Amino acid sequence: MKEISVHSGKEAFFSYYSTLEEKLQQGDYYYAFAFQSEYQSEEVRQFLKDFHQRLAVKKIDDRAIFNTTIESLAKQTYGDNQNIRLRFKDVKIPVGLVVTKDSLLQLGWQPEPFIVEIKNSVLLEHYHNFFLENWNTNEAIEFARQALARFNLSSPQESLQKINNLQDNHAAQMVADSIEAVEESWAHKHESKEKEFGQKLIGETIKLWSVPRTTAELLEFFVVATGSKKILEIGTSAGFSTLYLAMGASYTGGEVFTIENLAPKIQFAKDNFQKSGLDNIRLMEGEAVSLLDNNALHDIDLVFLDADKENYGKYFDLLIPKLRKGGFVIADNVYDYGHMMKDYLDKVLGTKLPNSQSDKRVKSYTLPMDNGIIVTRKIEN
Ligand SMILES: C[S@@+](CC[C@H](N)C(=O)[O-])C[C@H]1O[C@@H](n2cnc3c(N)ncnc32)[C@H](O)[C@@H]1O
Repeated sequence: MKEISVHSGKEAFFSYYSTLEEKLQQGDYYYAFAFQSEYQSEEVRQFLKDFHQRLAVKKIDDRAIFNTTIESLAKQTYGDNQNIRLRFKDVKIPVGLVVTKDSLLQLGWQPEPFIVEIKNSVLLEHYHNFFLENWNTNEAIEFARQALARFNLSSPQESLQKINNLQDNHAAQMVADSIEAVEESWAHKHESKEKEFGQKLIGETIKLWSVPRTTAELLEFFVVATGSKKILEIGTSAGFSTLYLAMGASYTGGEVFTIENLAPKIQFAKDNFQKSGLDNIRLMEGEAVSLLDNNALHDIDLVFLDADKENYGKYFDLLIPKLRKGGFVIADNVYDYGHMMKDYLDKVLGTKLPNSQSDKRVKSYTLPMDNGIIVTRKIEN
């Protein structure tokens, strides 16, 4: 077996990629790419764009590390494909890299495209380590670790140890994926004769209504960025957002209290939390207002409101004394349900002018993403 071979010129480049694509489609390889000097030629650029989109649609993992100087070009190329995840990192990589099970490809584009295929085991190990070290996010590291395990390649401990406080949240991530997969199919016929939020008609079908993944990721990020430890969520549903809050809290040493009142969802959430492997979630069953009295709920760092919108104002009044100074309330759905949370908006969003009705203890920012998110910070007791 040749340990190093070179395929140069457009034809060789395209033909090598066709073979590679077949292997990748069989799922027997894992694939990553990192570009520094890509897309010198429009033809190559289009070819690679189509290639990555075909792979991504088939859900083959496809990640990138880019030098920031070509970030906008990459966004322009891949931005409209929901299945491709771009990671931007200012790493100086001389040329493109593709890592597969048993080879490493170095790609270049000047003056003609070329591929250097390396099968040397020492070099391979070096590059596998390189990816482990540079994909410095929990998810990416987990992905690389699994991929290596699948091919019986060991994950070098010292590489993993370099990643600060790496948490093994892979099971929780899988459960979150599975909730997303049942989002559209999960339905519960609610026969309550009372009119409640989301149950305007007797016998109405209720769904999960999990937040979009990007909102969930923002929650995880927010927990980590603010170092929040005591977190309260109102509105658990299947636990999708809870899992992200709890993954964030796994980094801060925190815990998540989450409240849900609908029995079938409680059961579903319990199963999901159990499978997630996370031990920092406390599910509280019942009506939110009556549960907020719980003794554990004081000095809260972060609240996520995602239940009955018409009661956000009431929750705010009850929770603001329990929130520590500097703590946050994040409220979802200002775009789609703003009309149902008017009193809440009056309290948190008003100006600071003397006649404003807003609560002077807080300051808010509206994030224009997904369903509209209001981040409110308690600035005074
Ligand atoms: C939008 S869903 C929550 C979605 C969840 N945060 C997620 O993103 O995965 C709202 C949930 O709040 C629950 N809920 C509504 N009113 C409630 C109340 N007063 N007390 C407790 N739970 C309530 C509903 O049953 C529903 O499951």
